Amino acid sequence: PRYVALIPAAGVGARMAAGSPKQYLPILGKPMLRHTIDAFLSSPLIAHTYVVVSADDPFIDTIVPEAGVTVLGCGGATRMESIRNGLRALHGGIAPDDWVLVHDAARPGLDAELIARLIVETGEHPAGGLLALPVVDTVKRHVAGEVATVSRDGLWLAQTPQMFRYQLLTRALDAATDPSAITDDASAVEALGLAPKLVEGHPRNLKVTLPADIRIAEMYLAAHQP
Ligand code: C5P
Repeated sequence: PRYVALIPAAGVGARMAAGSPKQYLPILGKPMLRHTIDAFLSSPLIAHTYVVVSADDPFIDTIVPEAGVTVLGCGGATRMESIRNGLRALHGGIAPDDWVLVHDAARPGLDAELIARLIVETGEHPAGGLLALPVVDTVKRHVAGEVATVSRDGLWLAQTPQMFRYQLLTRALDAATDPSAITDDASAVEALGLAPKLVEGHPRNLKVTLPADIRIAEMYLAAHQP
């Protein structure tokens, strides 16, 4: 089976409060999405990379087209919808047991080493796998005036890529009845009663959400420059 990457990049990045969608904000002089695509292009394990953008995305022209990358203009109203539309567009060009690595455009710090670790450690796991980080902070839950400390035992922070066989991912997302409860692809697979494998990620693979995250991403990416 082949490994393909699917990058949902049709968000508007409201929390970033910038002029353009955050996936196009410059990081070390290159659009964030370019770094994310380049991570997959640098991996010899990835057969092809698909990027899902909005049909009317005026910024995609800033991403120079390249062999091995296909841009799909079928973004939806939510992340999950963008991914479902992207998977539908792949239909016919992908085998049911091929692996799809779904990765957020907003995580430009990914690199070939992390991609390889995810693929190798997930192996043939029937429920697929994802990069994640063990929680190191003390966790508090504050609900209705009550504050409690939650044991961090067994708690992980989910990252992406999250990889599943095409057939399983499609089935899981089609079965998801409450899209707002599905904040990542693994949760849709878990809802089928399956337990995806957690593979240790890295802080450099942070999700750029707030303006200050840009600086942190630049620090990690600069450390990798030749
Ligand atoms: O906003 P957030 O960081 O949670 O978005 C995660 C990823 O999902 C981003 O890469 C974003 O571009 C993508 N997305 C999408 N379609 C949407 C909303 C978000 O592809 N409608």
